Amino acid sequence: MSTAPEIFDTLSYGPAPEEAGAVRAWLAAQGDGFPLFIGGQWRPSRQPSPRLPCLNPASGEHLSSLTQSCAQDVDDAVECAQAAFPSWSRAGSTRARVLYALGRLIQKHSRFFAVLESLDNGKPIRETRDLDVPLAARHFTYHAGWAQLIGRELPGHEPMGVVGQIIPWNFPLLMLAWKIAPALAAGNCVVLKPAEDTSLTALFFAGLCADAGVPPGVVNILTGDGRVGELIVAHPGIAKIAFTGSTEVGRIIRRSTAGTGKALTLELGGKSPFVVLEDADLDAAVEGLVDAIWFNQGQVCCAGSRLIVEESVLDTLVRKIKTRLSHIRVGDPLDKCVDMGALISPAHRRRVQGFVEQAQAQGATVWQPEIPLPQKGAFFPPTLLTDVSPANVAWREEIFGPVLAATSFRTLQEAVELSNNTRYGLAATLYTENINRALELAVKLKAGVVWINTTNQLDAACGFGGIRESGFGREGGLEGMMDYLRERDAWGEVPEDDIAASGVAIEPVAAASEPPPEAIDRTFKHYIGGKQCRPDGGRSYPVTDSRGRVLGWAASGNRKDIRDAVEAAFLATRWADATAHLRSQILFYIAENLALRRDELAARLGRLTGRKAAHSRSEVDMAITRLFAYGGWADKYDGLVHTPPVRNVSLAVPEPIGVVGVICPDEEPLLGFVSLLAPVIAMGNRCVIVPSQRMPLPALDFCQVLETSDVPAGVVNIVTGEREALAETLALHDQVDCVWYFGSKQGSARVEERAAASVKRTWVNHGRRRDWRSPQHGEGRTFLRQATQIKNIWLPYGDSA
Ligand code: NAI
Repeated sequence: MSTAPEIFDTLSYGPAPEEAGAVRAWLAAQGDGFPLFIGGQWRPSRQPSPRLPCLNPASGEHLSSLTQSCAQDVDDAVECAQAAFPSWSRAGSTRARVLYALGRLIQKHSRFFAVLESLDNGKPIRETRDLDVPLAARHFTYHAGWAQLIGRELPGHEPMGVVGQIIPWNFPLLMLAWKIAPALAAGNCVVLKPAEDTSLTALFFAGLCADAGVPPGVVNILTGDGRVGELIVAHPGIAKIAFTGSTEVGRIIRRSTAGTGKALTLELGGKSPFVVLEDADLDAAVEGLVDAIWFNQGQVCCAGSRLIVEESVLDTLVRKIKTRLSHIRVGDPLDKCVDMGALISPAHRRRVQGFVEQAQAQGATVWQPEIPLPQKGAFFPPTLLTDVSPANVAWREEIFGPVLAATSFRTLQEAVELSNNTRYGLAATLYTENINRALELAVKLKAGVVWINTTNQLDAACGFGGIRESGFGREGGLEGMMDYLRERDAWGEVPEDDIAASGVAIEPVAAASEPPPEAIDRTFKHYIGGKQCRPDGGRSYPVTDSRGRVLGWAASGNRKDIRDAVEAAFLATRWADATAHLRSQILFYIAENLALRRDELAARLGRLTGRKAAHSRSEVDMAITRLFAYGGWADKYDGLVHTPPVRNVSLAVPEPIGVVGVICPDEEPLLGFVSLLAPVIAMGNRCVIVPSQRMPLPALDFCQVLETSDVPAGVVNIVTGEREALAETLALHDQVDCVWYFGSKQGSARVEERAAASVKRTWVNHGRRRDWRSPQHGEGRTFLRQATQIKNIWLPYGDSA
């Protein structure tokens, strides 16, 4: 026992364990362990198999056991959810009250949840009590508001149906809330699978559903390992999958949902930069780092795991970090004085240790504080790696542990390059006292979330999610709500001829010998980097009119043509930086120049399609109007300022995605082309666009309009030829950030499947048609949303933020 003077001298904290009796009694009352929660009832599996143990990672203690769900259980859960959907989706006010009640019940049982989560996951009670649980409650109360407002505020949208949700072990209750609250607010029903390591808080939550008035079947919780996840992903009754977890599994899910028509959002791994400029408040930056990489033992997808420091302050910062880490307390997660608990499992501990050893072998210097660690359990000390080269494994791979890799930079440009040199793009943090530099950097960092002078801030009102291999889609805020809704009546049925096409390349129509009355004996080229270019393969194909007579020849594009076009688009970066005003002016100018050629283009369209002159004239007129519309949108589709309940604002900025590959439909060959091109460039993207294969000539005429309209070279690149092959090349290309595909059902599936390799965002039509002539379905916010990604930039205000 220490004396009072000794305590003052060492400033050591005595143990202050949280009482766990109620939780242990509840676990003991489960007997053999937990059944499944299906249709509002607790049920055993229809096909019992060995149970999964729930272990306390801090001690190895057996807490309980879980049911491994089988295929029939998944069928039952989906069936119950489908049965509950019609009435649940209709009743916005009821949903609002139920969601609010769930939030209140989480608050009411907050201590129970916090203890249970710490026991099951190994994270310190300080974090579960102060962050996981209150934030989970906040997600329900925030989304209760959306449930109430949605019908009025988001007209033209509807819930999707049954949503399958698969979550990881690092924030078990919080991830559940992130997934369930917006899905229910939108009117969907859910089948959720918690991680096999950490299902207990989800099961306790299931028990509260009836008290909150959740109708049976609206929430179904199926436990089990990855095989249960696979069954959920594959189930035909599910309309959307929302997944958080590893990039590897995200990729598998992208592949297996390809072509099914299921909506998908993926929140995957990260290797987020933490940039410290020399003018930063270094003590604040050190506290930020503690929250960035040692919070939750570093098992955070958005952990700031790469420290990038201005060279002049590197040594000072490293010294301060070491001092701070020497005071971190690692120990019993239930102890209220503990800063860091245990990793999720001994296996994960070995994995983290393996990364550290590999990093050291590759030249990194490893530093760990001399602090006591518990003898038992999956504990790992906070670790700092210096002398880390960009090729080092610790710089490239997500370690998912309390390991910070540090390096330095000399110029801001170098800081941006180092930060962005990763295949991920989830979050970024920067510390500087200079607001101008902060905002300049925030725009340049490639990440879905940027925190300025703060870090790891999360709130229900602010969208969270990544780009590149960190996934796509947002959770939280308006942007998150949109990912649980779909447009009402926007798509027509899949036409018979598309089903018959079954993905086989559309053969060029055989050229008839008889020339048309006004034959255009012209061979059109690609349009790449602002110039007309001959096709690499030296091949062209005949373009015929509605009676099969040759009207002209279009270039047959191949992989090399696509590579050249992507390169040109990739280099045209200034378009993204151009002001919205300038892009707007240029779109108006394109519209004006198109109007000058209205009659000529209408005549060409008429010959090509065989439709009446009035129809062709109206198609050109609508294309002109559409360009004007996007000229208008270019500087009006701007962001939101979210106001979370902490002293921060978050600027939700719609940013261009980058290089977009666009595959155009055959119907309305000019209007379809313009309806896709205009939103893409209005939002600052560059594109490689493949016009209708059968009727590419109007798009090629359009090149001349572009040439006279001040569109910088490389912003629009047009490659003609065989649609399916070109789409596949675009979907596989690493420098293409997103693909829009409007073709057959099978072509859509192929694009989604090929895009999985780089976890590329896609927007495909699954063979269905849009009414391009309708301003409601052929234009507007859906297109603009698909052409942008929301970056949330968090800005603290006040001195103690
Ligand atoms: P994981 O991605 O394997 O597991 C996440 C969830 O997906 C779990 O519920 C799991 O049962 C389920 N799952 C696994 N295979 C599946 C499949 N084929 N189809 C459908 N669902 C499937 O992640 P794991 O193994 O727990 O962790 C491995 C690594 O992943 C970590 O070390 C970390 O690097 C990363 N990770 C990233 C997370 C994030 O928040 N971004 C969260 C958890 C892990």
